[in-house]
Amino acid sequence: MGRLRIFLCGLNSVKATALLQICLGLLVVSWLIFPTHVQQAWCGDSISSSSWFMDMNRFSRSAHGSLKCERCHEEMIGQGKVHPNRKDSTAMKKVSVRFYDYKRCAACHPESYKRYLVGEHAKALIKQKQDQRLGNKEAPPESLAPTCGDCHSSHYTQAKLSRIAIGEQMTETCGKCHPSQKMSYLKNLHGQLGVFLKKKASAYCTDCHGAHTCESLKDKEKALTACRRCHRNAPAGFAGIVIHTGSEDISKKDPKKQANMALIGTVKRIGQIVTVIILAFFALQTFVWILRELHNKLRGR
Ligand code: HEC
Ligand code: HEC
Ligand code: HEC
Ligand code: HEC
Ligand code: HEC
Ligand code: HEC
Repeated sequence: MGRLRIFLCGLNSVKATALLQICLGLLVVSWLIFPTHVQQAWCGDSISSSSWFMDMNRFSRSAHGSLKCERCHEEMIGQGKVHPNRKDSTAMKKVSVRFYDYKRCAACHPESYKRYLVGEHAKALIKQKQDQRLGNKEAPPESLAPTCGDCHSSHYTQAKLSRIAIGEQMTETCGKCHPSQKMSYLKNLHGQLGVFLKKKASAYCTDCHGAHTCESLKDKEKALTACRRCHRNAPAGFAGIVIHTGSEDISKKDPKKQANMALIGTVKRIGQIVTVIILAFFALQTFVWILRELHNKLRGR
């Protein structure tokens, strides 16, 4: 410690700035080149980020805290099966949410499981699995159909959260895969009342669509049934009111918007490259400066 202090005090202002510059440069460059999923984990991507590390404190406070691990991981208690196959080098790279067999949840949650099976997401999942078997490319993460694990954290889920807390959480969770609907919902009166003003009488995504069935509601009859849960005397025309204005993945259908998005992406990338070049330039300059200082010292000036 003492040595460090002497070293730091011994630095003149040029050297101190150089040291600072190098540290800052390293920090920024390492952040830029870090894989995005590591960044997300650090920034607290809460619900579906699965991990090999378990926070036992959080687990014991969760809805499942009193369950033995084997209730959900019985494949690990067969002979010598405590750990995954050591020869399988891909084991720890797999996304566990995709590989867990969620049929096991049905043992204790038959209703949720049954509703999920007849819902839109299960249909989409079956179709995606068929596509995969036919050898088509796997869909990107945000267009994969969700299983239980995409909406619930099996290790840390809390029991009996308030209606408002569930509503807020689900706006985020559903919104990750349906961003344009999330945006239009938050602009809609229901979203403003429910999410911003925390009025629990308002409608959250799942009040209209159902948490596990997730009905499309394009069908006016079904939509009317959903509205009448709260608007008891709604006339037949009521379901014609548009909830998600200008939604339906604008960027996919509108070529002009798509072009704009591409432009924004390019500008962002150019910005990143320029930052790296500037930092590299200063790092080089500092290095040459140090060389000159050294050179001068050696020549005894
Ligand atoms: C309610 C059911 C449930 C309980 C109880 C449970 N787990 Fe899990 N666990 C899951 C599910 C579902 C996944 C896959 C999705 C994920 O990672 O969130 C998982 C994933 C894991 C993983 C990631 C690797 C893998 O196998 O896919 C580890 C490690 C793990 N659990 C350990 C434990 C331990 C240790 C306990 C007991 C303290 C425990 N679990 C209790 C449901 C459970
Ligand atoms: C051995 C039985 C058992 C299994 C297997 C099980 N759970 Fe549970 N689960 C429970 C119990 C008990 C509770 C707590 C209920 C309570 O306190 O109201 C619970 C609560 C929950 C809750 C919170 C419910 C609430 O009150 O809001 C969710 C979400 C949930 N489980 C999802 C899952 C998922 C997903 C799986 C499969 C990976 C799973 N469970 C497997 C027994 C189980
Ligand atoms: C698309 C997101 C989504 C998926 C997929 C999903 N759930 Fe849920 N689940 C929810 C929401 C939202 C709630 C909160 C209750 C509500 O809003 O009605 C919920 C509530 C629950 C509850 C609490 C009891 C209840 O019905 O209120 C359990 C248990 C549960 N889910 C289990 C499961 C299981 C098991 C699966 C997989 C078969 C699953 N969920 C798949 C979104 C989802
Ligand atoms: C992991 C991503 C993911 C999550 C999380 C998710 N969805 Fe979906 N959802 C999909 C996919 C994929 C489809 C299949 C249809 C498609 O291509 O849009 C779908 C379909 C739907 C549909 C039917 C749309 C249609 O075109 O038929 C509704 C409604 C829906 N989701 C609502 C919800 C709600 C409400 C939640 C939250 C409780 C939610 N979703 C969470 C990916 C997701
Ligand atoms: C007040 C009721 C209501 C709420 C709240 C609501 N929606 Fe919708 N949603 C509808 C209706 C009605 C439709 C069908 C007509 C339309 O597209 O506007 C729909 C359509 C959709 C579709 C497209 C279905 C298709 O077939 O193309 C998705 C996906 C969706 N909603 C997701 C969400 C998500 C995610 C949330 C929460 C952030 C949400 N919805 C909140 C009523 C609602
Ligand atoms: C979970 C309950 C719930 C559901 C389901 C629901 N709403 Fe609402 N809605 C409300 C609340 C609460 C308000 C706030 C104004 C009020 O008290 O009437 C509101 C307000 C409205 C308003 C503003 C009109 C006014 O009275 O000021 C419209 C329009 C509306 N809802 C349309 C719909 C449509 C269309 C559906 C079905 C697709 C629907 N709502 C489903 C709870 C709900």
